[in-house]
Amino acid sequence: MKRRGFAKAANAGIGRIEGAVPLDRPGYAIETAIARPAQIAGRPAAKIGDALHGTGFGHPIHPMLVTIPIGTWTLALGLDLLAALGYRSRGAAAAAEIALKAGSAGAVAAAATGLADWQHVNGRDRRVGLVHGIVNGTALALTLASIGLRGRGRLREGRLASAAGWACMAVGGYLGGHMVYRRRIGVDQADRSPEPRDFKPVLPLAELAENRPRRVEIRDEDTRQDIGVVLVRRGGRVHALGARCSHMGGPLDQGWVLGNALVCPWHGSRYDLETGWPDTGPSTCPQPRYEVRLRDGIVEIRREQEPGDEVVTAETLAAAPCNAQPAGTQAGRKADEVLVEHHQLIRRLFETIEATPRQASERRELMRTLASELEIHEHIEDHIFYPAVRPVSEDVSIAHSEHRQLADLLAMTLKLDTASPEFDEHLRALHAAVDHHAGSEERSMFREAQRLGDARLRELGRALEAMMEEQRVGRFQRAFRDLKIRLLEGA
Ligand code: FES
Ligand SMILES: [Fe+2]
Ligand SMILES: [Fe+2]
Repeated sequence: MKRRGFAKAANAGIGRIEGAVPLDRPGYAIETAIARPAQIAGRPAAKIGDALHGTGFGHPIHPMLVTIPIGTWTLALGLDLLAALGYRSRGAAAAAEIALKAGSAGAVAAAATGLADWQHVNGRDRRVGLVHGIVNGTALALTLASIGLRGRGRLREGRLASAAGWACMAVGGYLGGHMVYRRRIGVDQADRSPEPRDFKPVLPLAELAENRPRRVEIRDEDTRQDIGVVLVRRGGRVHALGARCSHMGGPLDQGWVLGNALVCPWHGSRYDLETGWPDTGPSTCPQPRYEVRLRDGIVEIRREQEPGDEVVTAETLAAAPCNAQPAGTQAGRKADEVLVEHHQLIRRLFETIEATPRQASERRELMRTLASELEIHEHIEDHIFYPAVRPVSEDVSIAHSEHRQLADLLAMTLKLDTASPEFDEHLRALHAAVDHHAGSEERSMFREAQRLGDARLRELGRALEAMMEEQRVGRFQRAFRDLKIRLLEGA
C-alpha cells in the first residue's frame, strides 16, 4: 500500500529548484538591494528588521502572518465555488471581495517578514526561498487583479484570477513547508541537552582570556553526543552559553564579544551574556544557559534547566514524594515486581498464540485475551505507575508514545483473520514492539523507580494489583473492554 507518488514528485521538483545555481545571481542581487539601504539607515532599520524577524516576540513572525492570506483567500475560493454551483448572493460576492482584500494586506505583511528572514539563508534554501517568494508574489498579483476585475463588475474573470492566485499560494505554501519542516529554517537549532545536571569542571580559569570566547565540550550519554558550550570571561565574571546558535546553528565560540553580548559569526545575532536572549536578531530564541562557579581555580558549569523541562536533577529528586508510607506497612510486592510479572504473562500469551496452528479456532480467543491483558497493563501504568514515577524518571513521555504505538498495532492486528499470513506478520511485529517497550521499562524506568524507595514502591504495588483486579473482574470494565475489542475487530 504505497501512496507516495505526490510526495516523491514534489520532492524531485523541489530538488531541481535546490540545485538551480543560476538562481543565485538574482538572489544575491535582491539581498544587496535589501541590505544596503538598511546598512545606510543604521539602527532604525535594524529595529524594523528585528520586528520583522520576531526577535522580541520569541518566534518568527512570518509563519503566523501567512495564515491570513491562506485563511481569507480560501474562504473567498469557497464562496466563489458556491456561486459557481448556483448559490449566488450579493452578500457572498461582497464577503469574498472583503476576504480577498484582507488576505492581500496579510500577504504584503507576510512578504515583508519573509524577505527579512530569507536574506539570511544561503545555497539551496536561498533558491527555494526565492521561488517561494516569486510564486507567492504571483498569487498576490493575481488576487489584486481579481479585486480590480470584481470592482469593474467582471465577476467571472475576477473569480478565475483569484482561483489561479489561490493555486499559486498553495504551491508557495508547500515550498514554505519544505523549508521549515524539511530544512529546519526558522526552528530552534541550539543543543538543548539537560547535561550537565550537576556542576562539572570544564577548564582552569587561567586558560580563559578576557573577552575571548572559548569552547568546551560536555558529554550527553543518553544521546551519545558531545555538546558544545562557549565560555566568556568578562569583567571578573564567567558566562556560559550553548555554543550552537539557535538561529541556524552557527558556532558562537568563533564569534566575538560586543558590549555585554556574544555575537554570532554567521548572521550577527547578539546574545546577552547574562540571560542568553538575543538582544538583536535575526535569532528569535534564547541560547541554553549554564550556571558557573569557580572551585580551586577551575571553572565548573551546570545546565540551567528551562521552564517546562522534565528533567530529573538532584533538586527534583529531593522534592519527589519518596517513601511517603509510614513504617510498619511494608507488606506486598513492589510496583516494578507486579509489572514485570505481568510483562511475563503477556510474553507467554504471545508465545502461546504463535505456537497455536493457524487454523485453530482458539487463536481468536487467545488474541482477545492478549488484547485484554495489554489494555489492562497500559491502563494501570498510565493511571498509577507513570504519574508516580515521573519525578524520578525521564522515560515517561516516550513510554506514553510507545503505548500509543502498541495500541495502534494491536488495533491493526485485531482486524485481521487469525488464519492469515498477514496476521502472523502483524503478531510478530506486535510481539517485537511489546518486547522492546517492556524491555526498556525493565532496564531503565523500573531501575530509576527504585529512587522512590521501598515503602513507596510497595504502596504503588498494592494500588496496581487492586486496579488490575478491578479491571479484570469489574462487570462494567470487562463489558467496556470487550466492546472495545469487538469494535476494533470490526465485528
Ligand atoms: S546562525 Fe544565524 S545568527 Fe547565528
Ligand atoms: Fe508500559
Ligand atoms: Fe509495562
